[in-house]
Amino acid sequence: MTAACLDAVAALEKECFSHPWSKQSLAESLENEKSVFLAAYEDGKLVGYAGMEVIVDEGYIFNVAVSEDYRRRGVGYALVRELVTCGMKNSLCFITLEVRESNSAAIALYSKFGFIRVGERKNYYSDPSENAVLMTKYF
Ligand SMILES: CC(C)(COP(=O)(O)OP(=O)(O)OC[C@H]1O[C@@H](n2cnc3c(N)ncnc32)[C@H](O)[C@@H]1OP(=O)(O)O)[C@@H](O)C(=O)NCCC(=O)NCCS
Repeated sequence: MTAACLDAVAALEKECFSHPWSKQSLAESLENEKSVFLAAYEDGKLVGYAGMEVIVDEGYIFNVAVSEDYRRRGVGYALVRELVTCGMKNSLCFITLEVRESNSAAIALYSKFGFIRVGERKNYYSDPSENAVLMTKYF
């Protein structure tokens, strides 16, 4: 992913999340050499993106999002598959993430790749308030 995508990614963030990342935050993360950013395009339009930060041999997925009109077509699967492949190639010990406990679509997606529930954070999210489920894939 390049800086040219940032407006489209910021718009996708706004579409998908109650506390979207700003363009500025996305730009700072993109410049971080430890971040892995992936963008999915269809006919020149950004339809999904995913991001992971790598700290030594640990991966932290900070977002996966697919535009509503393009869901259930394998885009999210392709994005997570690339992050998992990146984790394997870089000999990570694990990849971990937080997800709203009501987000059954995302939980099902991560489970397909062997992410398992390892804990929860009470009232981690706001608007609406909700627990986070911690999911980790060990390599
Ligand atoms: C979660 C999300 C990324 C899935 O993207 P997607 O492109 O629609 O997912 P895919 O079409 O690749 O589906 C892959 C698997 O995910 C699961 N899945 C996806 N959407 C689902 C849904 N609505 N209900 C149940 N399972 C679902 C299924 O296991 C699916 O496999 P299948 O098609 O063989 O059943 C998308 O719904 C999204 O962007 N949601 C809003 C943002 C979000 O919640 N991100 C996660 C933050 S942690």
